[in-house]
Amino acid sequence: MSNTIVIGAQWGDEGKGKIVDLLTEKVDVVVRAQGGNNAGHTVISDGKEYILHLIPSGILWPGKMCVIGNGVVMDPVALLGEIDGLAEKGISVTPENLQISDRAHLVMPFHRQLDAFREASKGDNKIGTTKRGIGPTYGDKIDRVGFRLHDLVGDPVKFSERLHKRISDCNVLFEGAGMETLDAEESGKELLEAAERLAPYSTDTVGTLHAYMKEGRSLLFEGAQGTYLDIDQGTYPYVTSSNTTSGGACTGSGVPPQKIDRVVGVTKAYTTRVGEGPFPTQNDNLADRFHKMGREFGATTGRKRRCGWLDLVLVRYAAMVNGFDDLAITILDGLDDCEEIPICTHYELNGKKLMLPPASAEDFANVVPVYESLPGWQSDTTGVKNFEDLPANAKAYLERIEKETETRVSMVGVGPSRDQTIVR
Ligand code: GDP
Ligand code: IMO
Ligand code: MG
Repeated sequence: MSNTIVIGAQWGDEGKGKIVDLLTEKVDVVVRAQGGNNAGHTVISDGKEYILHLIPSGILWPGKMCVIGNGVVMDPVALLGEIDGLAEKGISVTPENLQISDRAHLVMPFHRQLDAFREASKGDNKIGTTKRGIGPTYGDKIDRVGFRLHDLVGDPVKFSERLHKRISDCNVLFEGAGMETLDAEESGKELLEAAERLAPYSTDTVGTLHAYMKEGRSLLFEGAQGTYLDIDQGTYPYVTSSNTTSGGACTGSGVPPQKIDRVVGVTKAYTTRVGEGPFPTQNDNLADRFHKMGREFGATTGRKRRCGWLDLVLVRYAAMVNGFDDLAITILDGLDDCEEIPICTHYELNGKKLMLPPASAEDFANVVPVYESLPGWQSDTTGVKNFEDLPANAKAYLERIEKETETRVSMVGVGPSRDQTIVR
């Protein structure tokens, strides 16, 4: 038995889905422990592309159990849509391969509307959320007024009463803001229908995960978002509302830290960010190049991702707070054409050298990234199978990352398919 956590080292979309898919072969259970359907994890399996939002990527492998843990915020209607979408592509999702924690909080229609309302009222200071209702749902969880899966499937009548009350309170707010109001009857009906379909999936996943571990089965935790979207460690307030770092995998699943054997960090060979907030190494020329190639569009919202050079300040701190045992570097092939590759080794702020990121978003926006330029390799790496066969400059680039982050590079992505990952 060996339990592994996979975590994004940047602002999400590092290619976690592909790495999880690759690691799933050797595990029994794949677990999501935080976030919700703000995530979009792309996996190419048997030549078909799948984008997973709430369901762990392990669902694409036959015979694997998938678990949505207590730390996830789950939109019942979105989840059923995802289950149906997978069925259309020939992937069957049943309680035999998916279990959902009865403690998971539910994203309700008024949470989605509140997300839109709060973003609109922030004006120029908006966060650029995915508008999936994630922040308001976690807000209610912390405020101890949330709706959990056991509430919906256990006592639908009481659930409906509470829902009606919340919707009528929220409608006053929405009406005042000139926004569409919600129909409590309609929402209630849709949710009760969802409850019937979801009831067989709802269970005490803490109990089952511990039983699996006792039987010697291996767990793989699929991180969502990334370290700089973490509510504590990220570029606050331009973050998501959960702990996306490795500790979140434990609190969000009920699996204690001493059961974790390995933490794998995933980072792109460059950097991207979708949504607002500071991004010191942003480079619009690089973004234009990727967008013209049809790359770097958000998997959940379709928005253009902002792009920039690799920022070692980010990866260094991510290695510390997550305890990365090793790193997977994805989309190395994205840099195949570059003549020179700038790499940010540290920041300067008011004449001071910073090796680690600052706390304030304002300082983060004002830091000056200090670069070193490494020579590119200017050759196609997409067919390379062994680390030793990579061009010398590509190896030097990866070795530089290892040195600066004090973390070994164990995997290198050279294309989107499962077989385009070099395992060292
Ligand atoms: P996630 O949210 O971390 O799972 O990442 P996303 O799926 O949102 O975005 C990563 C994108 O990069 C997807 O389109 C993947 O298919 C793609 N991808 C992942 N690894 C590689 C790689 O090594 N090379 C290339 N070219 N694409 C990759
Ligand atoms: P995966 O798992 C990239 C970003 C949003 C926004 C901020 C807050 O695919 O890596 P939210 O809707 O969570 O309240 O939005 O977080 N964001 C992501 N960016 N990848 C993700 O997930 C993200 N999930 C949320 O764009 O900036
Ligand atoms: Mg993504």
